Amino acid sequence: MYSLDLVIRSSFLHFIEDPSKCSNKLSSYEFLNDGLMIIKKGRIIELREYSDEDEKRFENIEDKRGYLVVPGFIDTHIHYPQTEMIGSYGEQLLEWLETYTFPTEQKFSDIDYARKISKVFIRELLKNGTTSALVFGTVHTESVEALFEEALNENMLLISGKVMMDRNAPDYLLDTADKSYIESEALINKWHSRKRLKYAITPRFAPTSTREQLTLAGKLKEKYPDVYVHTHLCENRNEIEWVKELYPERKSYFNVYDYYGLSGDKSVFAHSIHLTDDEWDDISKTNSVISFCPTSNLFLGSGLFKLSKAEEKNIRVGLGTDIGAGTSFCQLDTLNEAYKVNLLEGNKLSALKGFFLATLGGAIALSIDDKVGSFTEGKVADFVVIDWAVNDLQELRVNNSNDLEDKLFSLMIMGGQQNIKETYIAGKRKYCLD
Ligand code: GUN
Ligand code: ZN
Repeated sequence: MYSLDLVIRSSFLHFIEDPSKCSNKLSSYEFLNDGLMIIKKGRIIELREYSDEDEKRFENIEDKRGYLVVPGFIDTHIHYPQTEMIGSYGEQLLEWLETYTFPTEQKFSDIDYARKISKVFIRELLKNGTTSALVFGTVHTESVEALFEEALNENMLLISGKVMMDRNAPDYLLDTADKSYIESEALINKWHSRKRLKYAITPRFAPTSTREQLTLAGKLKEKYPDVYVHTHLCENRNEIEWVKELYPERKSYFNVYDYYGLSGDKSVFAHSIHLTDDEWDDISKTNSVISFCPTSNLFLGSGLFKLSKAEEKNIRVGLGTDIGAGTSFCQLDTLNEAYKVNLLEGNKLSALKGFFLATLGGAIALSIDDKVGSFTEGKVADFVVIDWAVNDLQELRVNNSNDLEDKLFSLMIMGGQQNIKETYIAGKRKYCLD
């Protein structure tokens, strides 16, 4: 008998590469109907077919037959301070920020409040099978301190940063260019690469930063090239017009960020819906990343993201929930809406591509695919146990499915939080639906 942390028998699905880039989609993934995953010290030692000898070989096999185990979901754009204002009525982006977002974010100057919401937020991620996320804080360092403390507690791979914002917001939410540099640098030194945590330089979006602030954000990125950049781009038409007025000297909205040294392979641009051809080219050339946030884009009436264009331009894309403009923490709900957005754009989002985006695709987008996103030997054992069907209708639909892809498609369209049975971080169970 070997000494191991965890041995699981179940069905397993994980991706090896992007199914839309593979000449034979069957070689983009591995599916084991009756498989065995062996975990030691929080890492995957092996995933293979189950054999009858395994019963003698291993002492305690956790039997999860009938369920589907996939790598933990990855959320590439979410705002934790907006958890409590999810589903706020009736506005598009700029009015929505003024009416609901800014007053809510004010509360995060209080570290106790930030700690309380951090706990709720991380719990929601885990309930929904999300094991890693790129997360906006608020302008207050307290907001980031509280979130990192909680993520550290749960041993999560989480990336976050303090918002930099020195104009065009209420006074109570503004910093200054210098203050934002000093505070961000202090947070980088304290938190970046502590256990599984990473820092993201986080200018909210071009309209709320002066040239001076973006210059300093770029200096910070130059000094700490390993940290991320996280911001918003071309989400809403009025926002884009505003950026043109504020930065008339720049050739495009994306060029504002690019000019100040904020583009690159660890720079994530949420939304990127209304891009010009020039912007598509520049995002591609700089190897920057896009976060596709369908529930948010529909909820705020922002528009339809062109996933096929990103594929054509070889741009990495991950899925984002964008809570609280997004309406669900769940990547299954997000895929449901992503499918519809794609169809309205004249494209079909296959279930394989959908599950790729929610797992390995998200990991590639965040440059964390050396650690998570699939079940390759040596990766950290962050994973989710999914129940294929939790009600009569799902049961009927799943039993009526022709093959694996059809079954996965039914999960992506009909599934939701209730299908997430368990969530594991580094081989430890952190959530169980009871
Ligand atoms: N653009 C600038 N700030 C925000 C925000 O908080 N949410 C969304 N969806 N877009 C933004
Ligand atoms: Zn956002």
